Amino acid sequence: MAGNRTPLVAGNWKMYTTSGEGAILVQDIAELVEDLAGEVEICVCPPFTGLKAASTVIELDRLDFKLGAQDVFWEEEGAFTGAVSPRMLKELRCDYVIVGHSERREYFGETNETVNKKVHATFRGGMQPIVCCGESLELYEAGETDAFVRTQVREGLAGLDAGQAAALIVAYEPIWAIGTGHTPTPEKANDVARMIRATVGALYGPPAAMACRVLYGGSVKPENATMFFTEPDIDGALVGGAALKAASFADIARAAR
Ligand code: PGA
Repeated sequence: MAGNRTPLVAGNWKMYTTSGEGAILVQDIAELVEDLAGEVEICVCPPFTGLKAASTVIELDRLDFKLGAQDVFWEEEGAFTGAVSPRMLKELRCDYVIVGHSERREYFGETNETVNKKVHATFRGGMQPIVCCGESLELYEAGETDAFVRTQVREGLAGLDAGQAAALIVAYEPIWAIGTGHTPTPEKANDVARMIRATVGALYGPPAAMACRVLYGGSVKPENATMFFTEPDIDGALVGGAALKAASFADIARAAR
């Protein structure tokens, strides 16, 4: 981590936890990270059905936690069965929305174009997107990571204003590292994070590049978190599996200090 950017450690709970289980997880995490207030931003991203309960715990216990949704639809309202609008998330006091996670791209047909619509919808709704990008193992082995991720970033982040660009959070998550226990070296992850920042800079200018936060995601654990967080262009992590246990998530958050 470098510069004035506040580190962010976000837990992507995926399709785990009922709302009751999620409320308990938030309380358990809170007990373990009390001393980090102000130094590390901590964000929990439950499934839609768990947002209300998590939001209530955060409010009643006055936790210094951010709340994130795992997806959003880009329309304000309408006949879109199963979809959730930015206004609905904002009402539950969501701060962040994960957009374009590789699982959404793989199983739900997300493209750079729909990612872009969701990024704009998130900002219009008064929240900040955590935009995910990352290459497959095939592309990684072919040495095409940079070209592929650059296109994801250019297309997914098109058409923002400079203020929005500065408020961006981009998560670099190599698909082959998600849930596998494999990770790129911290140096390699930082190279891609730097390239992402440079791409934001080319689109929106150096101040936006310096201000936007780039996270690493993919098999982040307490044992490897420090290595990633000491890299200058990595501003935190998007954590999946290790975010479902209060102790491991808290240890990762502590490593970001
Ligand atoms: P993982 O997932 O930490 O379980 O690898 C990360 C993610 O998908 O965001």
